[in-house]
Amino acid sequence: MLPPMEQIVSYLTAEQIAERVKALGADIKRDYEGKRPVMVVVLKGSFVFAADLIRAIELQNMRVDFLAVRSYGEGTESTGVVQIVNDLSRPIENEDVILVEDIVDTGLTIGYLLDLLQTRKPKSLKVCALLHKPARAKVAVPIDYLGFTIEDRFVIGYGLDFAEKYRNLPYLGVLERVG
Ligand code: IMP
Ligand code: MG
Repeated sequence: MLPPMEQIVSYLTAEQIAERVKALGADIKRDYEGKRPVMVVVLKGSFVFAADLIRAIELQNMRVDFLAVRSYGEGTESTGVVQIVNDLSRPIENEDVILVEDIVDTGLTIGYLLDLLQTRKPKSLKVCALLHKPARAKVAVPIDYLGFTIEDRFVIGYGLDFAEKYRNLPYLGVLERVG
C-alpha cells in the first residue's frame, strides 16, 4: 500500500472549540435579551458551528435561517465572486440579524453578504464568526462575535472542508504533507 501523502494534525480540539462556542452563546444571549434575533447560517461550512452555537444561546425567541453560497472556483482561494445557491426562506426587514460564518479569510464573502443583506433593511446586522485569519484580509469586515484568531493555515474539520472532504471531523485540523 502507498503511504498517505498527507496527515491531519490537530489545530483546535473539540474541547477548546466547545468552550469558546459556549462563551459566544452567552455573549449573544446577553446582547439580545428581550429581542428575537435571526441567526443567518452561511452554508455549507457553518452548519456544525451553528448547530452548537444556537444551543448555547439561552433565548426564548430566536429563529434560524440558511443562506447557501458558493465562491466560484474549486481552489482554496476566495475569488470574491459569491453565488447565492439558496436564499433565505423569509424576509429579514426590521429584524435583528446575526450572520453566522465558519471563517473570515479574505473577508470578501462576508463583505459581499453584508452588502446584500443590508439592502433588505434589517433593523440590525451583526457577524458571528468561529475563525478569523487576519493575515489574508483583503477587505476589512466587522466581526462582532469571534471564536478564534488563527494564523495563515488552511484548516479543516468542524464543518470546514478541503474539496468537500473532512467536514465531519469533530475538531479543527491542518493538513500536513508527509515525507
Ligand atoms: P473569504 O471570502 O476569503 O473570507 O473566505 C470565505 C470562505 O472560504 C469561508 O467561508 C470558507 O468556506 C472558505 N475558507 C477560507 N479559509 C478556509 C480554511 O482555512 N479552511 C476551509 N475553508 C476556508
Ligand atoms: Mg464558508
